[in-house]
Amino acid sequence: MGGALCCVNGHGFDIAKQGYVNLLPVQHKRSHDPGDSKTMVAARQRFLNSGHYQPIAALVRRAISQHRDILAVQQAQYSCLDAGCGEGYYLRQLVQAVSGVHSLALMGLDISKWAVLSAAKQERQLAPEQTHQASWVVGSNAHLPVQSRALDSVLCMFGFPVYSEFSRVLKEGGLLLQVEAGPNHLRQLREVIYPALKPERSGGLAVPEGFGYQYTETLCYELQLEGKGMISDLLAMTPHLYRATADGRARAEALEELTLTVDVRLTAWQRV
Ligand SMILES: C[S@@+](CC[C@H](N)C(=O)[O-])C[C@H]1O[C@@H](n2cnc3c(N)ncnc32)[C@H](O)[C@@H]1O
Repeated sequence: MGGALCCVNGHGFDIAKQGYVNLLPVQHKRSHDPGDSKTMVAARQRFLNSGHYQPIAALVRRAISQHRDILAVQQAQYSCLDAGCGEGYYLRQLVQAVSGVHSLALMGLDISKWAVLSAAKQERQLAPEQTHQASWVVGSNAHLPVQSRALDSVLCMFGFPVYSEFSRVLKEGGLLLQVEAGPNHLRQLREVIYPALKPERSGGLAVPEGFGYQYTETLCYELQLEGKGMISDLLAMTPHLYRATADGRARAEALEELTLTVDVRLTAWQRV
């Protein structure tokens, strides 16, 4: 495997044998090893592959399908970037849902090389013989290695949105699908970790420049986690790992089981 990509300025970028490419220039790195660490990526991979967030993946799949159906009259191939894709769970779910249909052009991008490496490897394990539907790229949302007005949709899931870049790379009428934690998301875990929960932020949604509001969908369900391993994996893949005190973390890590509320919001913004 392997190979290389070449840009219009003649710079070469090797495609790693695992099937991803690093397009993050040194000057765009704020640290030696930016983004989620190898340990966090491994924890997220175990947690997501156990299916606990499958309803979130289904929510995203439905939103993409609806948008594809609307555009299908005009074009054959539908393009989507997962900006801050982590270990690629949501794009893999999309690929599996449309297997055999070569009508998707997908790119997963993350600033963490560990995340992108894991995403590329897992897609390969899923279908070793098949042509791969997704391109996996180490890069930053702040400087997307994508031409302007090229994409039908951008996913930003529990991520770090850079609206000016998202609006630059989307076609007119393209969709930004943003998934964020709602007020009750993982509330029971937060109650264990923190002495008191912060009050909910009030105020409406601010419309990002270059976008118009389309719709919001709320998804709420209960999750039963069994075993210390799963609970510590969940903790390791959330910002609570860093925000919690050592005591708070220890309380969570001592739990043998936990019933949790999953509460997420999917907001669709249309590029105007
Ligand atoms: C909370 S995780 C969510 C990962 C994935 N979207 C998911 O839901 O499973 C946030 C991800 O954003 C990545 N990230 C952080 N800063 C970034 C940036 N400037 N550009 C792209 N990705 C970034 C991290 O490495 C991490 O994988």
